[in-house]
Amino acid sequence: MIENFDQLRETVLSCKNCKLHETRTNVVFGVGNPHAKVMFIGEGPGENEDLQGIPFVGRGGQLLDKLLAHIDLSRETNVYIANMVKCRPPKNRDPERDEMEACMGYLRNQVYLLRPKIIVCLGRVSACSLIDPKFKVTRQHGTFFERNGILMMGTFHPAALLRNPVNKPDSLEDFLKLREKIDELGIPV
Ligand code: URA
Repeated sequence: MIENFDQLRETVLSCKNCKLHETRTNVVFGVGNPHAKVMFIGEGPGENEDLQGIPFVGRGGQLLDKLLAHIDLSRETNVYIANMVKCRPPKNRDPERDEMEACMGYLRNQVYLLRPKIIVCLGRVSACSLIDPKFKVTRQHGTFFERNGILMMGTFHPAALLRNPVNKPDSLEDFLKLREKIDELGIPV
């Protein structure tokens, strides 16, 4: 494991471990407080993220920021946000298994450095990979699972909420449950 974020970032920025490096503009390493105890994990960079090198900066990102603000969290202060894969899959297709496997070590290293108490999986791809391969967002969103001593919850991907606003109230409830859990466990935020 690499023992600090700056060194890990440097390594990831020059990664060529999978074919996504051929089509990327920027590597999207992660953003937020490197001491945060709450971590969010999305799927992979989209077009805006690829152009800016920062996770969740498009319309979905704005929605995520709003949901976070609703429970007094923000990327500027008390959470860390990363993705399953650090480079944009062409045309925003799902990341492929070999791409996620090639990138998993970097995510593991981020989790190792952060030591989060809670991880929120944004959408099916990260929830299936990190919580349960059979995870169903519509049925299991908002439920906490323990994995390796970390509480994990899956919820709707912000882009899915933009396509399907009918799920926004459920999503808001998930964020409120997250806030309750943070308060119940006395997690410093
Ligand atoms: N969707 C994701 O899953 N991650 C991003 O960073 C942006 C969009």
